[in-house]
Amino acid sequence: MRLAILLSGRGSNFAAIHDAIVRGELEAEIVCVISNRPNAPGIERARALGLSAQAIYHRSFGTREAHESEVLRVLGDARPDFIVLAGYMRLLSPAFIAAYPMRILNIHPSLLPAFAGIDAQAQAIAYGVKVSGCTVHFVDENLDAGPIIVQRAVGVRDDDDASSLSARILEEEHIAYVDALKKLAEGRYRVDGRRVVFS
Ligand code: GRF
Repeated sequence: MRLAILLSGRGSNFAAIHDAIVRGELEAEIVCVISNRPNAPGIERARALGLSAQAIYHRSFGTREAHESEVLRVLGDARPDFIVLAGYMRLLSPAFIAAYPMRILNIHPSLLPAFAGIDAQAQAIAYGVKVSGCTVHFVDENLDAGPIIVQRAVGVRDDDDASSLSARILEEEHIAYVDALKKLAEGRYRVDGRRVVFS
C-alpha cells in the first residue's frame, strides 16, 4: 500500500504511521510527504528519515488552483494508493477530491459528526460532553463529513481543559490512524453510502 502524507505542522500522526511501518505492524510504504508550510516540523522529520519530502508553500502560488495543481503533479509522480491528511490545514477543492475518490483519508479530533471544524477539543469542552475522541474518515467535498472508517472514544474528565483533552485524544489518534490503514490494506471493505463496511 503506497501512502502519500499531507501535513502542515507537528506531524505526530505521520510519525505514528511511519513507526508502525518500521515495526512491521503496517504493511505500507510512505512514497511522499508534502507540507504546505516550508518549516513544518513534520516535513523536517520526513527529510531526516530520508523520505521523499517536499514543501509546496501555498503562499508562493497565486491561487488555490495553482497550488493544488502542483500538489497533484507531485502526487501523480508518487502514485499513492491513499492520500493521508495528517494535520493538513488546507481545504481541498472538489476537483482535487474528485481526482482521488474514497482514496483521501483525514483524522479529526472529535467523534464526528460532533464538533467538525477547528478547535474540536475546545468545542467539546465548551459543550460539556462527557465523551469525545477521534475519527478517521474518507474525505468528500464537505468539511469533516465523509464516510467513517474508525473512531476511538476518550472520556472527558471534570478537570480537563482543551489542552489536556487534546493530549489524550492525540494518543488515540495515533492508534486510530494505524488501525484504519491496516483495515484498508487488508482490502476487504466496501463503502455503502455513508457506511464503510468491513468483511
Ligand atoms: C491532530 O489533532 C489531527 O486530529 C488534526 O490535526 C492535528 C495534527 O496533529 N487534524 P499532528 O500534526 O499529526 O501532530
